[in-house]
Amino acid sequence: MKIRVGIIGAGPSGLAQLRAFKSAEMKGEAIPEIVCFEKQSDWGGLWNYTWRTGVGQYGEPIHGSMYRYLWSNGPKECLEFADYTFDEHFGKPISSYPPRPVLFDYIQGRVDKCNVRDYIRFNTTARWVEYKEDTQQFSVVLEDLAHNKTYTEEFDYLIVASGHFSTPNMPYFEGIEEFPGLIMHAHDFRGADIFKDKDVLLIGSSYSAEDIGVQSYKHGARSVTLSYRSNPIGMDWPEGMKEVPLLTHFEGEVAHFSDGTQERFDAVVMCTGYQHKFPYLPDELRLKTKNCLYPDKIYKGVFFNELPQLIYLGMQDQYYTFNMFDVQAWYARDVIQGKFSCRAKRKGKRTSTCG
Ligand SMILES: Cc1cc2nc3c(=O)[nH]c(=O)nc-3n(C[C@H](O)[C@H](O)[C@H](O)COP(=O)(O)OP(=O)(O)OC[C@H]3O[C@@H](n4cnc5c(N)ncnc54)[C@H](O)[C@@H]3O)c2cc1C
Ligand SMILES: NC(=O)c1ccc[n+]([C@@H]2O[C@H](COP(=O)([O-])OP(=O)(O)OC[C@H]3O[C@@H](n4cnc5c(N)ncnc54)[C@H](OP(=O)(O)O)[C@@H]3O)[C@@H](O)[C@H]2O)c1
Repeated sequence: MKIRVGIIGAGPSGLAQLRAFKSAEMKGEAIPEIVCFEKQSDWGGLWNYTWRTGVGQYGEPIHGSMYRYLWSNGPKECLEFADYTFDEHFGKPISSYPPRPVLFDYIQGRVDKCNVRDYIRFNTTARWVEYKEDTQQFSVVLEDLAHNKTYTEEFDYLIVASGHFSTPNMPYFEGIEEFPGLIMHAHDFRGADIFKDKDVLLIGSSYSAEDIGVQSYKHGARSVTLSYRSNPIGMDWPEGMKEVPLLTHFEGEVAHFSDGTQERFDAVVMCTGYQHKFPYLPDELRLKTKNCLYPDKIYKGVFFNELPQLIYLGMQDQYYTFNMFDVQAWYARDVIQGKFSCRAKRKGKRTSTCG
């Protein structure tokens, strides 16, 4: 019987996996039976930013931490696909830091060209996964959102490509429950227009804090204050923007900081990062990590140590993105096709059963 591969998520990571199999097939190789499940009605993951971002047509929480005026924070040269260049897609050179819709267009160009859409079941959410020792298969419970139907399918390999930048990490600060202004996480930020003439406090000192802070400034915030826990970003900020040490507590609309200073604010944006969250995976299959470059327990950053037929894509903190997903997807494909063996260890067993 043909090997069955299930992929959860049709964002850049899931699409990288589809493309990897498709390019092997185009070279005449036999590929397994593949099904990709995507809870949204279109592909692209975070890059599929629409007015539906937040809650979908069928009431499903819709993924997405993107915002309208997002521009790439890394040069496009560092995320270019090895087999599909920006020049090939656009037919001319483009700038190094493209805006969101341009990157989305580029991501789609490659997969449009190789017809992988047919492998994707849209509006389908993975609800639960079990690994059956007797059959050595994953049993995946799926919900067809459009038809309000739940069903189960079995797979020999399961690829988790559901991303890790969409479940907010929302810390508590004493007195925040009495803060009268707007409190939100960067996940729900869609545009800085709402901060015009406001005094805005951002907690965090990483990409989101920097980007949302600068956008708020450009969109006319009266003042922008970034509060850091470990290290300040340390830019030469324009007048009206500054960094202060960590917030300790609120008293009404006044925030107090660890250097003893205090200030009144209209709005607070938690730019405090995200949690790896896999509500459809049981404890023993779930990757438990914070956002870092080398998460524990996944061999070569891809194969789950305890069960290497379970494959995680894109779970690292992301500097290189699309091309890193490709490398991971090629490796996973080659192991599944038996070109390489995977030496990840299974609990209580000496080597893997993979590849
Ligand atoms: C605000 C922000 C800005 C960013 N900007 C950049 C940038 O400029 N450049 C860059 O290279 N990277 C950027 N990134 C990094 C981003 O994570 C990657 O570009 C990329 O989107 C990751 O792809 P992914 O497929 O792993 O995850 P995602 O893009 O998150 O896609 C995961 C997919 O899985 C689906 N899914 C989730 N759960 C289920 C389920 N249970 N069942 C079915 N489907 C499911 C989701 O609907 C989604 O389509 C940014 C991230 C954020 C948060
Ligand atoms: N324009 C763009 O392309 C753009 C814009 C925004 C985001 N992104 C992407 O989105 C991803 C996530 O970035 P991110 O900035 O949201 O998350 P992140 O890089 O994980 O940073 C989280 C920040 O929150 C702080 N933090 C966490 N818990 C805290 C707490 N309890 N109290 C105070 N501070 C706390 C961390 O401080 P410590 O340093 O102390 O840990 C860190 O500064 C990245 O891949 C990034 O590239 C891209």
